[in-house]
Parts: sequence; C-alpha cells; structure tokens
Amino acid sequence: MGSVTRAVFGELPSGGGTVEKFRLQSDLLRVDIISWGCTITAIEVKDRQGRASDVVLGFADLEGYLQKQPYFGAVVGRVANRIAKGTFKVDGKEYHLALNKEPNSLHGGVRGFDKVLWTPRVLSNGVQFSRVSPDGEEGYPGELKVWVTYTLDGGELMVNYRAQASQATPVNLTNHSYFNLAGQGSPNIYDHEVTMEADTYLPVDETLIPTGEVAPVQGTAFDLRKPVELGKHLQDFHLNGFDHNFCLKGSKEKHFCARVRHAASGRVLEVYTTQPGVQFYTGNFLDGTLKGKSGAVYPKHSGFCLETQNWPDAVNQPHFPPVLLRPGEEYDHTTWFKFSVA
Ligand code: BGC
Repeated sequence: MGSVTRAVFGELPSGGGTVEKFRLQSDLLRVDIISWGCTITAIEVKDRQGRASDVVLGFADLEGYLQKQPYFGAVVGRVANRIAKGTFKVDGKEYHLALNKEPNSLHGGVRGFDKVLWTPRVLSNGVQFSRVSPDGEEGYPGELKVWVTYTLDGGELMVNYRAQASQATPVNLTNHSYFNLAGQGSPNIYDHEVTMEADTYLPVDETLIPTGEVAPVQGTAFDLRKPVELGKHLQDFHLNGFDHNFCLKGSKEKHFCARVRHAASGRVLEVYTTQPGVQFYTGNFLDGTLKGKSGAVYPKHSGFCLETQNWPDAVNQPHFPPVLLRPGEEYDHTTWFKFSVA
C-alpha cells in the first residue's frame, strides 16, 4: 500500500506563491515532487542489501531550484529539446522563440514549464499538476491546457502528460531527471551498464540540431542494443558523452525504451514509454559548480537523463513524427520508470 503526503517546500519571492512538496511512498520507492516545475526532487531506492539511497540529482531547498540550473528533475515544455533557430511555421504562419541556447531555442524558452508554479491535486497513489499556458507564452501559438500526473505503484513511477490546445501548436513534454544509481553525489556514472532499444538515432550538427538523417546504430558508438559499460564505451569510442535522440522501436503503445543497471548496488532502472524517442544525455555540461543535496557537487558525467519525447526539432523536419497538436485533439503520453534490484 502506498501513501501520499504534502508539506510546504518554500515561498516564491515577491509573493509568487507557496511551493508544496508531495511525497509518494510505496514499499519499494519514495518519490518527492514539488509544484514548481512538477520537479522530482528525490527518488529513494533500496540497493541489494536493502540500503536506501536517493538516485536523482537536485537541491535541498527551493532557492536551489530557482537559480540558473540545468532542469534538474523538472518537466520541460511547451516543447522539450531544441528548435532550430527558434523558428517554425504552423499553417503558413511563422513563429519566433527566444534563442535561450544560441542559436536555438531549448526546453520551452526563457521561462518554460520548468519555471512556473503548477496547481496540485492529491490522488490516492500520486499527484496531478495542471496549468494553462497562455496564448503566446514564450512565443508559442494558442492556449494550452496541461496536466502532468505522477503515480506510484510498487517500484514503478508513472508519469502521464495530457494537453489540449486552442490553436495548432507544437507540444513535446518530458521529465528531465538526472539519475545516478550509485546514489546522487557519486562522482560519475561510468560503472553504469546501459541498454537502449533503438536501431536508429539522429546525428546532430555542431549546435545539436538533428541533421535530418535517421542513421542506423549498427557498427557505431550508438549501438546500445546490447548492454555496454558506459565509461569504457565512451573511452573506446573517444566520445565526450551522449546528448542524442535515439529513435525507439515500437508504436504509440507502451514500449521498452532503456535499461540501466548499476552492478555494485544491484539497482536497475527500466524505462517504458509511449513516445517515439528518447534523448539520452550523460550530463556533459555539468561542471561541478552547483551545490547539490547533502553537500554533493555535480561534475561532468555525474548523472544521466532519459528524456522520453518526440524527436528534436520535429516541427521543422516533416519526416519526423508529427509534433503539432490541433484543437479538438488530445496530447496523451506516458512514461514508466521502473526500479528494481538484480
Ligand atoms: C539537452 C542538453 C542540455 C541539457 C540541459 C538536455 O535535454 O539535450 O543539450 O544541455 O538538456 O540543459
């Protein structure tokens, strides 16, 4: 049986409102989520010996989340990932977004869905957050009603994203948690073993925009179809890390995305999703300057993200899966994070 409790997490400056923390607890997991950016602030998982550790990077208090930081645990939108030059067309009309990661737009803009207070509703086994993104917010067309629902069932955390638009708009929502299965604060993820259910991936240009090619992973560093040990793999292929979209096998139904195993603790994370892609990001831009929970510092490669989502820049690449949501339609995607020990 699980439980959900709520508490005040902090006050936003200038009367911006109260941020609450929701604790979802099952016999296997404890997950903390705050109403600022629908952000996961902690996930406690037991190891083989039954010792619990927090396996996500984050901050001890609200100030940490309000500073400039790389989307720790947050829901990102209206469009996660990059839009080339922050420009796109919908039905012949051109839209321009802020170029917050020059020369592109990243993760919804200057004030994306990660930097707003959501309205919470406690459920029997989770919490639902909702908000209305106003017409023109961050330059996007139309009003967007959004619901993000986290529910816990044993070792599985489910995240469901729903949205409805008043005008045709691109929508791409994901969660940006950084995991370290050795326990957050551990110096790197090199001893993690990674498997990705993808026969193809998207090569990118120097600004991390997909070139348009859907390339086979066969014979490349991107072939993660059989487990690889991350540190050795990066070394073998002289890679600075991953920051790439893997094109997932499978339909719009729930399908397997990735498995990450940390042999020493026995912790395993398996991800399933209804999305067509996953951005596998190995924390390449972390640089050890942020002060994390329990005195942790987060150097390069100290966490990994599995951002299940539509393919980056899909709004400008007609052969990518459709990203436009039209009035009367419903955006409805789910991702499952399943923790176990093996
Ligand atoms: C992107 C990275 C970016 C990181 C944090 C990831 O989703 O792919 O390029 O640095 O988010 O901003």
